[in-house]
Amino acid sequence: MGTPNERNGLVLQGGAGLFLCAMKRLVFFLGSFLIGCIVLPLSSPAAEMGKLTYDDFKKPSKCGMCHREIYQEWNQSLMSRSFTHSWDDKEYFKLALPHALTLKKVAGVKAGCVACHGPLAFLAGDIPPKPPEAGTRVNEGVSCEICHTITGSREKDPFNFSYEINPGRVKMGSRGDAESRFHKSRVSLFTQSAKLCATCHDEQSPYGAWVKETYREWKASIYGEKGIRCQDCHMYRAPGKSAGSGKQRDDIAHHVFHGPHFRSKLTGSVDIALYTKNREVAPGSRVKIRIQLFNGKVGHYIPSGSTEERMLWLHVKATDSKGHSCDLAVDKKGFAGEEYTISDSKAVAYQAMGEIMQVKGYRGVSRDGNIADGVRIFRRPFFDPEGRMTICQWYTADNTKVDYRIGPQETRLESYSWTVPENVAAGSVTITAALYYSLVPSSVGEFMGLPSYAYEPRLVNSSSMVLRVTK
Ligand code: HEC
Ligand code: HEC
Ligand code: HEC
Ligand code: HEC
Ligand code: HEC
Repeated sequence: MGTPNERNGLVLQGGAGLFLCAMKRLVFFLGSFLIGCIVLPLSSPAAEMGKLTYDDFKKPSKCGMCHREIYQEWNQSLMSRSFTHSWDDKEYFKLALPHALTLKKVAGVKAGCVACHGPLAFLAGDIPPKPPEAGTRVNEGVSCEICHTITGSREKDPFNFSYEINPGRVKMGSRGDAESRFHKSRVSLFTQSAKLCATCHDEQSPYGAWVKETYREWKASIYGEKGIRCQDCHMYRAPGKSAGSGKQRDDIAHHVFHGPHFRSKLTGSVDIALYTKNREVAPGSRVKIRIQLFNGKVGHYIPSGSTEERMLWLHVKATDSKGHSCDLAVDKKGFAGEEYTISDSKAVAYQAMGEIMQVKGYRGVSRDGNIADGVRIFRRPFFDPEGRMTICQWYTADNTKVDYRIGPQETRLESYSWTVPENVAAGSVTITAALYYSLVPSSVGEFMGLPSYAYEPRLVNSSSMVLRVTK
């Protein structure tokens, strides 16, 4: 991503730009009131580094005094931990920041990461911010005030923190009749739309690759077409009150924001079905198993978002009546880039990671982590300017080689040709298909010293089928 000033170049050129640079914020508002109405569009200033202070934003705990349940929900979600949780902290301070200080092309990420993960520090110009241990206000992450004082975006289809923000007494919402002594409220179509989410959930790398496109995936899907928004699945509604002194309503928006970090959101998000022609098998005979995977619940691809490091894989195994089991290898389809979608314990990758950390003799780590060989992986690999697979999304020059994820309402078909072992035990053999998800390949997690929950496999779904062994 470019620095905001680079990107703002166009927007702020001409009289308005010089005007803005010269004046303090207050004067800018006065000025735009008096003459700006004609010169400038009727919007707040675009998010720019260092134009505001921490004190312009109230603390979430303050909002939580009245909005108690919403505060609890937000506090448990990743929005409140977007700067402090271990992988974000490590990736910024151990990889992105040192890289930004040595490679000019990616210098913008020094501030860029923070614009989405710790927006208060970015807006206050506290770059690089202090690490989480220091306890500064960057730790508030994506706070109440960020989402509720964003007024729009300078992009039609937002990306790269292109939000416009105007902190103060007015909170953007959706009601029209919300009354509070503490603040004013204004109805904002932007706040209610997927575009609010897009400002941070879509991202282009400094090399021009789309390294996050959850909004764009959603927009092109049936959900986007029908207007089923991000909020409808990630902030679902139920009867209640949003504040102690607020109105009883039928449809309070809950601030859940659950994704794959919460097993309950991930579990069951893809259906699995197994078929074979003949349920009776003889030792040494050849069996063809068909498996269907249907994404009927996710409003975008699965995985989505940080796809440089997400993996979804289908582990298929056969277990006989004595408990002996073997893994089944997926049949190849022959599409370009398929090698990245079938696990291979000999494949190494992520060389840039060790280079940035200046690890002596580092040649990369296992590309697929510790998963069995021959397993189908639903993923979208990212490649650095040297053509090596990378988890450094800011260092991604290309990610269009192969995209083998499961799209919204899409079904993927896989087949397995398996020869029943001669020594299979009498009775039955059970074929089990288990779909797992991991946030980061285990090899990367171990190398970076992440807590194990950050990379352990999470079961999305499983299904099985029993075959009778005939002798
Ligand atoms: C003194 C109590 C109080 C505090 C503190 C407070 N609010 Fe509110 N807020 C309310 C009440 C009451 C409502 C109206 C609820 C209703 O009518 O359903 C409300 C409504 C809202 C709405 C809905 C607006 C709409 O039109 O949909 C938003 C957004 C909001 N508050 C954000 C915040 C934020 C952000 C903070 C912290 C900076 C905050 N509030 C602090 C009492 C408070
Ligand atoms: C139809 C319901 C639905 C809609 C609409 C939807 N999502 Fe999701 N989303 C899900 C489910 C279910 C998951 C959990 C599965 C997963 O991780 O992909 C998820 C996961 C995610 C993730 C984590 C992706 C990953 O693999 O790391 C993000 C980020 C996300 N959603 C953001 C959004 C945004 C932004 C929008 C709107 C542009 C949106 N979602 C629209 C259902 C939905
Ligand atoms: C990631 C963005 C985001 C964050 C962070 C966020 N909100 Fe919201 N909030 C929204 C959106 C979007 C809506 C409107 C939902 C809709 O249109 O379905 C909303 C709605 C509300 C409402 C009105 C609820 C109703 O249905 O009447 C209140 C009150 C509110 N938020 C307060 C807060 C408080 C307090 C915090 C922090 C503890 C917070 N919000 C954090 C995006 C956010
Ligand atoms: C100011 C930037 C910003 C905005 C606006 C924003 N998000 Fe996020 N969101 C983030 C960041 C940063 C993370 C990653 C947090 C992490 O992993 O530490 C995230 C993570 C998520 C996740 C993944 C949670 C998980 O379990 O992995 C979901 C779902 C999500 N956001 C939904 C939304 C929705 C829905 C909206 C719009 C209503 C929205 N976000 C608006 C910055 C933002
Ligand atoms: C345009 C906004 C944006 C920018 C810029 C951005 N991120 Fe993120 N980041 C997000 C969002 C949104 C998510 C959550 C997506 C998901 O859950 O799949 C995320 C997820 C992550 C995760 C995964 C967290 C987990 O638990 O798996 C890490 C690590 C991360 N970002 C680090 C960084 C670093 C380092 C930079 C700078 C090089 C950066 N991000 C730049 C928005 C951004």
